[in-house]
Amino acid sequence: MSSFTDIVLDKESNQHLYIQLYSQLKDLIIQDKIKHHTKLPPIRKMADLLSVNNVTVVNAYKLLEQEGYVYKKIGSGTFVQDISTKKLQNILMDESVELFGEENNHLATLNLASTAPTPDLFPINDFKTVLNEVLDRDKGNAFVYQESQGYHPLRESIMDYIKGYGIETNIESIQIISGAQQGIDILAKSLLDYGDVVFTESPTYTGAIAAFKSRSANIIQIPIEDDGIDIKSLEGKLRSLKPKFVYIMPVFQNPTGHSYSQEKKRKILDLVEKYDTFIVEDDYLSDLSFFDKSNSTLKAMDKNNRVIYIKSFSKIFMPGLRLGFMVIPNSIYNEVLSAKHTSDISTSGLMQRAFDLYLNKGKWQKHIRYMESIYKRRFNVWIDCLEKYIPREITWYTPNGGLNFWMSLPHGYSSNDLYKLCSKNNILIVPGSVFYADQRDSQFFRISMASVHSKDIDKSVKKFADIIRIFLKDSTRKQIPMDMYTPFL
Ligand SMILES: Cc1ncc(COP(=O)(O)O)c(C=O)c1O
Repeated sequence: MSSFTDIVLDKESNQHLYIQLYSQLKDLIIQDKIKHHTKLPPIRKMADLLSVNNVTVVNAYKLLEQEGYVYKKIGSGTFVQDISTKKLQNILMDESVELFGEENNHLATLNLASTAPTPDLFPINDFKTVLNEVLDRDKGNAFVYQESQGYHPLRESIMDYIKGYGIETNIESIQIISGAQQGIDILAKSLLDYGDVVFTESPTYTGAIAAFKSRSANIIQIPIEDDGIDIKSLEGKLRSLKPKFVYIMPVFQNPTGHSYSQEKKRKILDLVEKYDTFIVEDDYLSDLSFFDKSNSTLKAMDKNNRVIYIKSFSKIFMPGLRLGFMVIPNSIYNEVLSAKHTSDISTSGLMQRAFDLYLNKGKWQKHIRYMESIYKRRFNVWIDCLEKYIPREITWYTPNGGLNFWMSLPHGYSSNDLYKLCSKNNILIVPGSVFYADQRDSQFFRISMASVHSKDIDKSVKKFADIIRIFLKDSTRKQIPMDMYTPFL
């Protein structure tokens, strides 16, 4: 019960008491400080313990239940859910993992899992200006149902903007989406049926695995190498199977950080033409290229309209804006439009209009340069600190940019176990298992630099390195059976 007595509510705060209680209980659950299936104190008892109203506790428990952190047993009370899978999903989708600074929460968590920028980097003043301008200019029209394909002037602005990236397209091929995740989900809905085959890299983005699984698709993962997908293996599988599409991230692949060589890009384009399928190119991060500006998108090289291009702004702008776009071939236009309409009718018209103005005022370009300079500086400090502190038994890949480091424990060690030890010590990392369709344990894990401020990098890496050292020293740690490494066939 001692965890519950740690809860402190600030009655002077602007934040509702039930929200404070909800978020502190959620942290305790996420950090495993309250074990799953533990019974939460009854409402009246908890209310007495914290000197608050019963309603405060009822509302906090209700919110926890809605988000799947607790469950109710009629007549017995409220119990903590086993959230291991949910927790990992949330970390990867960057949804409900909050960044707890010392000033916000007594349980300071070092978040090396999230790839979302910290809110202090959001261009709030510039965005406020464009929002106000849109409201003055468009009045109520900013709140009507927007056309499903997207606000026409925004699609026009995007068409012009991506010309700068070598992507020549027409306005009809641009579909506005409420974030790249929705784009992936829409493609899954429009192109995949039960049992259909889809190829991905191995490992791959967990949100894509989830979307494809939701359609009961058969996910075939193909190993990724330093310079892109294993082409031999890809061709071998294309010969025997007919995937609806091949989902890849050619620049700063998530989670490994690998980027495709120009040669592999050309080869994969030839292969999808030869075997008559599509590539889904998820461009979630190419803007953060620190050293190599020749990182062209695959779409820019696509002469045969084989590439469905998805662009997210979340990692370099504001993830909560829920805005992105796709460039789609004509042949799937109707299916995609219909799936988008079914999903949410349209992406917020107000946000589309504001973003259009933001682009046209040149603010976007300025913001990207700003983010690039911040992250480039942080990246260099990260490289130094990793080299200085991380034990030499750990290896990692240093990408040319992006936000992630894909690391490896010595062969046979379990990154799921490392993840658990880190969680107990208030450090969030992402174990490799979530990036595989079969969720197999492995020695790999991902850390991200997105959520650590410059001044905290040194002490954060040091703290993390200390935990790794403890982990490696603990000889009782189980070794993963070698057959767990068998590639996914
Ligand atoms: C590779 C990849 N694609 C897509 C997304 C989802 O992005 P959005 O916020 O635009 O939906 C993420 C988010 O983590 C990602 O890592």
